[in-house]
Amino acid sequence: MQDLDAIVNEALGLFSGIEDADELERAKARYLGKSGTLTELLKGLGRLPAAERPALGSRINAAKDRLEAALKAQRERIQGCKLAAKLAEEALDVTLPGRGLGTGGLHPVTRTMERIETLFRSLGFEVADGPEIETDYYNFTALNQPENHPARSMHDTFYVDDGKHLLRTHTSPIQIRYMEKHRPPIKIIAPGRVYRVDLDATHSPMFHQVEGLWIDRHITFADLKGVLADFFKRFFEREDLKVRFRPSFFPFTEPSAEIDMSFGDGWLEMGGAGMVHPNVLRNVDIDSEQYRGFAFGLGPDRLTMLRYGVNDLRLFFENDLRFLKQFN
Ligand code: DAH
Repeated sequence: MQDLDAIVNEALGLFSGIEDADELERAKARYLGKSGTLTELLKGLGRLPAAERPALGSRINAAKDRLEAALKAQRERIQGCKLAAKLAEEALDVTLPGRGLGTGGLHPVTRTMERIETLFRSLGFEVADGPEIETDYYNFTALNQPENHPARSMHDTFYVDDGKHLLRTHTSPIQIRYMEKHRPPIKIIAPGRVYRVDLDATHSPMFHQVEGLWIDRHITFADLKGVLADFFKRFFEREDLKVRFRPSFFPFTEPSAEIDMSFGDGWLEMGGAGMVHPNVLRNVDIDSEQYRGFAFGLGPDRLTMLRYGVNDLRLFFENDLRFLKQFN
């Protein structure tokens, strides 16, 4: 028979070197398991003469107790190490500086819109607003846009499923909404989002417009030209900037013009304008014999591209912070 003390010493040495809880249980089985060394010794007791059994039995039991005690201590040591490691891992250094809240910034197109509003307010214009989901009446009919006008075709316009509404294709409906509620003199701009089925480097299905409307007794085309020339010069901070009007057609103005702005050696189209059509005034019960005025529509996205030298409109709407942060 193996010496009991040698077995105990071997087991204690083995247990004390084990760092893993499962491994410790496997080591325990080698001594105290079903066919562990000490278990086998106990089983062997029956083969000994009756007189020797009690003494050896109690020695073996004492050895078992020592191993159990050692196992318990080692289990606690392993548990303690695990806890300490976990605490170290989750340690919080309360002396570190806070992460802080990033300060947001304005989108470049928003900056342009605010700049436009500031400039027109200084000329006495108020800022008006209207819904982005419009009815056919405000978007087209009231603006003297006949049933068969191409702008009404499914090709340009996003229609809402209920068959009654659409996403406004321009900010011009705000003219109608405002004139229904106010009597002349009327002097507003109306900035906002508009929607058309279109997408490439210079077109986005959502884009921005700024509508302008000035109705009074003596407003002429010269006022239109003066206001817009002044606006473009101040927007781009260039006294030498020129504005040109090219004859055009819009159902809600007569005469109508395309507004061009000098740019380098050439011209860039910046919007549309004209004298408000008498039918439009009639639709909102304003006496076109007494009152007249001009309207215009500008593209703030394009103004933003020119001001900051950006050549792809889509960049503005991808919301990539690496791009947007450059403007703040
Ligand atoms: N609503 C026109 C468009 O989106 C732009 C426009 C042209 C607006 C002439 C006007 C205007 O107010 O007089 O194409």
